[in-house]
Amino acid sequence: MEEQLLSRINDRTAVVGIVGLGYVGLPLAMEFAKAGFRVIGYDVSKRVCDRLMAGESHIQDVPSEDVARMVAAGKFEATTKSARLRECDAVSIAVPTPLGKTRDPDMSYVNAATETIAENAHPGMLVVLESTTYPGTTREVMQPRIEACGLTVGDDVFLAFSPERVDPGNERWNTKNTPKVVGGITPACTEVAVALYGACIDRPVPVSSTEAAELVKLLENTFRSVNIGLVNEMAIICDKLGVDVWEVINAAATKPFGFMKFTPGPGIGGHCIPLDPHYLAWKMRTLNYKTRFIDLASEINSAMPDFVVEKVAHALNEARKAVNGSRVLVIGVAYKKNIDDMRESPALDVMRLLEERGATVEYHDPFVPVFRENGHERRSVDLTPERLGGADAVVIVTDHDGVDYQGIVDGAELVVDTRNATARTRRSRARVVSLSVTSTEPGTGVNATLPGHPPLAAAR
Ligand SMILES: NC(=O)c1ccc[n+]([C@@H]2O[C@H](COP(=O)([O-])OP(=O)(O)OC[C@H]3O[C@@H](n4cnc5c(N)ncnc54)[C@H](O)[C@@H]3O)[C@@H](O)[C@H]2O)c1
Repeated sequence: MEEQLLSRINDRTAVVGIVGLGYVGLPLAMEFAKAGFRVIGYDVSKRVCDRLMAGESHIQDVPSEDVARMVAAGKFEATTKSARLRECDAVSIAVPTPLGKTRDPDMSYVNAATETIAENAHPGMLVVLESTTYPGTTREVMQPRIEACGLTVGDDVFLAFSPERVDPGNERWNTKNTPKVVGGITPACTEVAVALYGACIDRPVPVSSTEAAELVKLLENTFRSVNIGLVNEMAIICDKLGVDVWEVINAAATKPFGFMKFTPGPGIGGHCIPLDPHYLAWKMRTLNYKTRFIDLASEINSAMPDFVVEKVAHALNEARKAVNGSRVLVIGVAYKKNIDDMRESPALDVMRLLEERGATVEYHDPFVPVFRENGHERRSVDLTPERLGGADAVVIVTDHDGVDYQGIVDGAELVVDTRNATARTRRSRARVVSLSVTSTEPGTGVNATLPGHPPLAAAR
């Protein structure tokens, strides 16, 4: 079985299935198709499949032309028919792994995908889970279900875990050139999974087990969560001490070794950093171990929207205004710069908290023209001089490139800048309040960034 599958991978006659065609699944499907495989993408969403078959990408980092070209060449098709997975020699699963209301793992998508695979599994098939999950999922959840079909993992079928590291909006690192960790249930499982990914990804990185591979992803995202938590706490510390946190971080980042720059902000968002560490925390709770770093970072990061709203309230107060009745214009609602992803965005909390205090809130985001939350539709407004001049406060939550920050400090009265986006603007009309300096003279731009040290993206 192993030799047969390896040979089909090597000569590209293997058919690759992708379950879940979202931020992770679609770029992966395109890489396999570009490498010469025929790819069948299975998604439960008819809307997603119809759009893809019409040559339209719904993922910002995947150009529609790529999808249209692969569909036209017969290299890629998207379907809602799960039985088509039976045609596949290898299947990668990239379905959501959200948290439930009690912040426990919601495994319903992985369970459903596993069920679908089990119904269509056949001897000689490789199955790889890509969804971020707690250590033990592949062996404890997937292996028994697949083996219940009478197939033995390692002999008849092959099972592995390979975490996705896609960073939406990152122009340098993409699915192809980012090394990919792969760990199988048995050495044969690892070998075939490495062969498959090696066919379309520059550098597969084998590890000894599915648990090690699952933990790699959780370590990476916990590392980011903890470090973002640390700089967010540093922003609070600097605020209390009256020191500019950006100056401190930028100066620390001149150290050529032993320091890695992270930047504070209004909180964390996206499908990874706010969620993934909780998968590990949950697993460890079942073993009576409390993951203190994870819990503390989560506590600090999730309190940042409140901190921002307090800054807004304080700054309005200095101008003898109340939050109640104020007009607030939020700049940037995506969870990080230059992308359109709103999932878990701290902007949602900032807007909700301001509205709970009686503010009237509008937003401007060139990447998010419209979004719905709790059945309520919001639309991005234009950045006109009238709108800037009419706002009691402008709050920069996400620092997209291409937004006219000079225009903002020229036109607004008060700017609360949570991202240091106004650092390079000239002195102007607006009073600019940063995360850590309670209040500054009009447009002083206290937050000058040292040259040569661009900040890391704040989340994910
Ligand atoms: N988004 C990222 O940047 C990123 C990065 C690394 C890892 N991840 C992980 O990858 C996984 C997928 O995340 P995503 O961002 O691609 O999600 P997504 O929501 O963008 O896409 C998931 C897709 O799966 C489909 N789906 C749901 N249940 C299905 C089922 N049973 N069968 C077939 N299709 C189904 C949905 O319709 C959707 O199109 C998650 O575990 C996530 O944590 C995401």
